[in-house]
Amino acid sequence: MSFKTQALSLLGSISLALTAHGVAQAADSNKVKVGMMLPYSGTYADLGNNIDQGFQLYIEEQGGTLEGVEIEYVRLDDESNPSKAPENANRLVNRDQVDVMLGTVHSGVALAMAKVANDTDTLLIIPNAGAMAITGPLCSENIFRSSFSNWQPGYGMGVAAAKELGKKTAVTVTWNYAAGDESVQGFTDGFEEHGGKVLENLTVPFPDVEFQALLTQIANIKPDAVYTFFAGGGAVKFVLDYAAAGLKDTIPLYGAGFLTDGTLQGQGEAAEGLYTALHYADDLDVQKDKDFREAYEKRFNRVPDVYSVQGYDAAQILHAGLKEANGDFSNREAMVKGMSESTYDSPRGPLALSKSHNPVHNMYLRKVEDGMNKLQGIAVANLGDPAKGCRL
Ligand code: PHB
Repeated sequence: MSFKTQALSLLGSISLALTAHGVAQAADSNKVKVGMMLPYSGTYADLGNNIDQGFQLYIEEQGGTLEGVEIEYVRLDDESNPSKAPENANRLVNRDQVDVMLGTVHSGVALAMAKVANDTDTLLIIPNAGAMAITGPLCSENIFRSSFSNWQPGYGMGVAAAKELGKKTAVTVTWNYAAGDESVQGFTDGFEEHGGKVLENLTVPFPDVEFQALLTQIANIKPDAVYTFFAGGGAVKFVLDYAAAGLKDTIPLYGAGFLTDGTLQGQGEAAEGLYTALHYADDLDVQKDKDFREAYEKRFNRVPDVYSVQGYDAAQILHAGLKEANGDFSNREAMVKGMSESTYDSPRGPLALSKSHNPVHNMYLRKVEDGMNKLQGIAVANLGDPAKGCRL
């Protein structure tokens, strides 16, 4: 399905969901209302769509209910726009009366959601956004992340760039917001701990895709490698522009794995050979992943990516809470206990949540080969996040 057709069919399902559910009451004890606040438009639209599908797949596999509790959805397009985020999140909690918020992709939007979750004592499961503060100083009993912190894939790639790939110098390029800054911080920590040196940090505003000036700077600096954080539509454009500028064969391009996850169809030949680090790969030798990929392809007629996995695992976290609470969502203590303590059988391989409710998982080194992110090895095993400032 083309990007446009997918977006259109998704819009169809959003309006259907809204009309069908109206403003149903949250008080119904056999239902839990999940407010999906995700980007269904813009550069991160595919990411939001895949999270939504991953979540749905898990719920469907359980027969549409978790411990006898029916799962109802309210969907809201956050447009990856931080300035609209407080109003959007408040609307879900106060007008739509959702029981749990699920979202989002963009760190700036997720920071606003975390504030609303804390102010209104609402459970929040974050299926992507990696803002470190959310499992750092802003960490909270109510807030869980099924994805990663921005630092983690950056750190994994930094270690691999120095150790496995033997690079000594690098330039970083990213969007100028929390996700980019923190991803670059992770890379710098991993790379410099292992003898590398970051020469320069280049940025563009989010979600700009005008990269020519940066590419000229990179060509002039001539580092051993370039590290990037880009995702979604921006990642497709960056990889195409990097190859078209003739840089791909002279200065290897590395990234947090979002650079090549869910994007390979649009990048084609330009992505072949790129190394990235992420908590997922397309050919993991993990039985759960084989089952997951087969079920996902059958259900949605397309291959899953890391975002689909994170959506699926977000649903597993909700399920862990309902198991501990024996299906009684109103038992908050049991919900939080179940959601906090579990280890998960994730398609990504071993997954546990840290005390700050952030994933601890392997950072895999991957290389694009034949249009797939193929596993090269584990860059860092069971990597947690520094979680500085979290007092849970
Ligand atoms: C983020 O804003 O935290 C973010 C967005 C897209 C990604 C990863 C992280 O692929």
